[in-house]
Amino acid sequence: MSSEPHLFVIFGATGDLTSRKLVPALYKLLLSKDDGQSVILGVGRSELTDEAFRATIREALQESGCDKKHATNWCAGSVHYQQVTDEDYSQLRRRIENVENERGLTGNRVFYLALPPSAFEPVISALGEHELATSRGWTRLVIEKPFGHDLASARALNALVHRYFDEAQVFRIDHYLGKETVQNLLVFRFANTVFESLWNRDRIEEVEITVAEQLDVANRAGYYDGAGALRDMIQNHITQLLTLVAMEAPAKWNAEAVRNEKVKVLQAIAPVELDHVVYGQYEAAGEVDSYSNHDGVAAESTTPTYVAMRIHVDNWRWQGVPFHLRTGKALPERTTQVTVTFRRPPVSFFSDLATEAFDRDVLVLTLQPDEGFDLCIDVKHPGDTMDIDKIPLSFDYADRFGVVADAYETLLADIIEGDQTLFVRADEVESSWEVFQPVLDSEFSPEPYAAGTWGPAAADEIAVTGWKTGASNCSED
Ligand SMILES: NC(=O)c1ccc[n+]([C@@H]2O[C@H](COP(=O)([O-])OP(=O)(O)OC[C@H]3O[C@@H](n4cnc5c(N)ncnc54)[C@H](OP(=O)(O)O)[C@@H]3O)[C@@H](O)[C@H]2O)c1
Repeated sequence: MSSEPHLFVIFGATGDLTSRKLVPALYKLLLSKDDGQSVILGVGRSELTDEAFRATIREALQESGCDKKHATNWCAGSVHYQQVTDEDYSQLRRRIENVENERGLTGNRVFYLALPPSAFEPVISALGEHELATSRGWTRLVIEKPFGHDLASARALNALVHRYFDEAQVFRIDHYLGKETVQNLLVFRFANTVFESLWNRDRIEEVEITVAEQLDVANRAGYYDGAGALRDMIQNHITQLLTLVAMEAPAKWNAEAVRNEKVKVLQAIAPVELDHVVYGQYEAAGEVDSYSNHDGVAAESTTPTYVAMRIHVDNWRWQGVPFHLRTGKALPERTTQVTVTFRRPPVSFFSDLATEAFDRDVLVLTLQPDEGFDLCIDVKHPGDTMDIDKIPLSFDYADRFGVVADAYETLLADIIEGDQTLFVRADEVESSWEVFQPVLDSEFSPEPYAAGTWGPAAADEIAVTGWKTGASNCSED
């Protein structure tokens, strides 16, 4: 697969995602390809000249550490802006054709919707109605999560997309899938027989996936109060991680085969038992104000800022193994980890040493802040006595390989090359909502937890052998 000269059209070009993530990633990618033809066309409702837009992009590039002179030259040659309103897509169409003609492009186009979800429907419809969904070359549509607000809206969004675009043209972004550790999870599992042979109900006692945010809701309450922790993190990011941990080896290494296996995991998830779900909402502690006091949070809001749950994947590999999922805001640290807890030895010669140190072996996959793995195993402490320590066998991406590319760089390269492996397919989105819709429909009231803690105490009753993230699994000491 290779990239070809193309026009990269960004809707929502004046937004945060464009300046912080997309443009720095595209700058690096387009420079490395050095095709000299590819162009970015920013699109927005704001009235901006090309030059004014370039100034914002230059600033964003400088903030991300790019050389000022180089960024200025690149912007002058490769960045344009077009204003749109609902009525003037024909003007956008003409602009696209003009830019393509000027640059000798053959009609390859990416339409990236860096937009709030409320704008997806009108923009996708307008692209379709103005015959921008197809061109002389290839056309690709990129949609940022959230893919729907619930099962019905996800189905409606997919139906709308498919009215104008084939699934093979659609790239639904869950940026977690662009992280090295997430992709390496598949290499780790399927290239190392030592792990894959242990990767089942016989050897694994439980799996935990925690996405912990230290930040409170900050200025996102307008969106967050209508969404909550389950929609914001569990239905998408955490479920994506779950599918990669639990999936079978694909028949081939290609987008369809990998995504087929992910969908099978989702289809095997048993109905979630509602008494295995705990909701929380943070209350004031230290510097952090209560969730309910934030601007934009509805009075008496019951939006959960924390969710923990136990689910089961009812298939041959995972029967009986609990998967513990947890996410929250205003927790003690910012971290994303998958922990795989192995079973204890069936018989222990060291049972009289059974202390906290002598426990289950745990594999910790860290996605943030520092991508890497730790396998926590027992070793004998030097000395006359038979003392056992838990120590990590560790691998840290940055230590071994230096700077790791941002997830968006990986994902944008794949979009340009037309590789859909790391993107969420329509049936994956719907299968995931099918799992969580009954949970969303259930009655609940979140339990209060103090900001800076690991959530409501009731969550401890869900995790069979205790939550691993935030506990000390093993240390270098
Ligand atoms: N920011 C991030 O780090 C991040 C990370 C992951 C995912 N995302 C997702 O990426 C998308 C964009 O995020 P963002 O933070 O860049 O959002 P944003 O800054 O709030 O909005 C992006 C742009 O969309 C345009 N827009 C706003 N409302 C619109 C409407 N009703 N119709 C048409 N255009 C509208 C605005 O530009 P104009 O007024 O000029 O049209 C705005 O600058 C969202 O779906 C978000 O969930 C963002």
